[in-house]
Amino acid sequence: MLILGIETSCDETAAAVLNDDKRILSNIILSQIDEHQPYGGVVPEIAARSHLDHIDIIIKQAMDKAAINFSQLDAVAVTAGPGLIGGVIVGLMSAKAIALAHDLPLIAVNHLEGHALSAKITEDIEFPYLLLLVSGGHCQLLAVEAVGKYILYGETKDDAIGEAFDKSAKILGIAYPGGPNLEIIAKSGDPERFSLPRPMKGRDNCDFSFSGLKTALRIASEKISQNSLNADLPLKLSKQDQADLAAGFQAAAADVLYDRCSKAIKRFQTEYGADKAMVIGGGVAANQYIRHKLNDLCIDKNMRFIAPPISLCTDNAAMIAWAGIERYKLGIFDDLSAPARPRWSLESLYNAAK
Ligand code: KG4
Ligand code: ZN
Repeated sequence: MLILGIETSCDETAAAVLNDDKRILSNIILSQIDEHQPYGGVVPEIAARSHLDHIDIIIKQAMDKAAINFSQLDAVAVTAGPGLIGGVIVGLMSAKAIALAHDLPLIAVNHLEGHALSAKITEDIEFPYLLLLVSGGHCQLLAVEAVGKYILYGETKDDAIGEAFDKSAKILGIAYPGGPNLEIIAKSGDPERFSLPRPMKGRDNCDFSFSGLKTALRIASEKISQNSLNADLPLKLSKQDQADLAAGFQAAAADVLYDRCSKAIKRFQTEYGADKAMVIGGGVAANQYIRHKLNDLCIDKNMRFIAPPISLCTDNAAMIAWAGIERYKLGIFDDLSAPARPRWSLESLYNAAK
């Protein structure tokens, strides 16, 4: 089976071809970083226009690299949400056009399901498993019972963790894209110099909160900024101050994940048994410090810890093609009326499957 996957929900225009033996025949990603950098974050209108300008050539590159033509495909899988709606529409309309022109089934994939199943491309993982989904728009803990069957254990009450990384990076004057750059700078910092809060730590539920941590970081930064007497000027921090604050933020965020995941593991093991895996997915799963911390947690809890390769953590179309393959095998298809959705929760898929 050969499936073309298309992803345009944020700031990556991506297309990939996978087969059901988990072979990635092509995985093309065009990042828009340069276009958004001057604004310090993703500008939805610029993203949508850029997807429109590049989607055709990216799909062509994916097909050429895989050395196949459209008639050899079995289906087209595409992100239909959640995401920035202009971009989602560009990808979805392109997929519908290909499906219609070549008489192929369409599979409208939830982007979060792409992240949720991405680890299965490189590892053999049995359902059910515990999933920590950490991206720019989401921070959730879920039990994954099957394709389309997700049970929410907890989620962020305010900022997503990737958003908190990005906003904190901005406070510290770290260039966009904030998350990955903050991780690099934190390497030369002392995580203990500033005492930052661990929001929600110790709570009985599996929820998260990151906006207070971000505010605490801002206050700590303002106190030591050499421009602290003039609020109109950007913060002025030495390289060491910047690194120490970045390390402090990352350690606090990772501590919170550790604590929240340990609560979720307890619940998951009670409900599904002890011999299961914990999987991490989404852009923040690329963070090595967080991966190590969660790996330690899983060793402690006797759980298998699975993190996809970095290239499959951040947005890509291989994970969308893979989710398409899993849905194809179950005979779940969509038609050309599939809507583009700015919001689309994983739990709602369960209700749709009932
Ligand atoms: O999954 P993703 O590529 O897009 C969304 O679906 O949101 O995640 C992007 C998020 C951004 O907030 C980015 O800063 C964060 O993932 N991210 C990281 C790292 N790499 C990407 N955050 C921390 N450390 C990283 N190495
Ligand atoms: Zn994503």
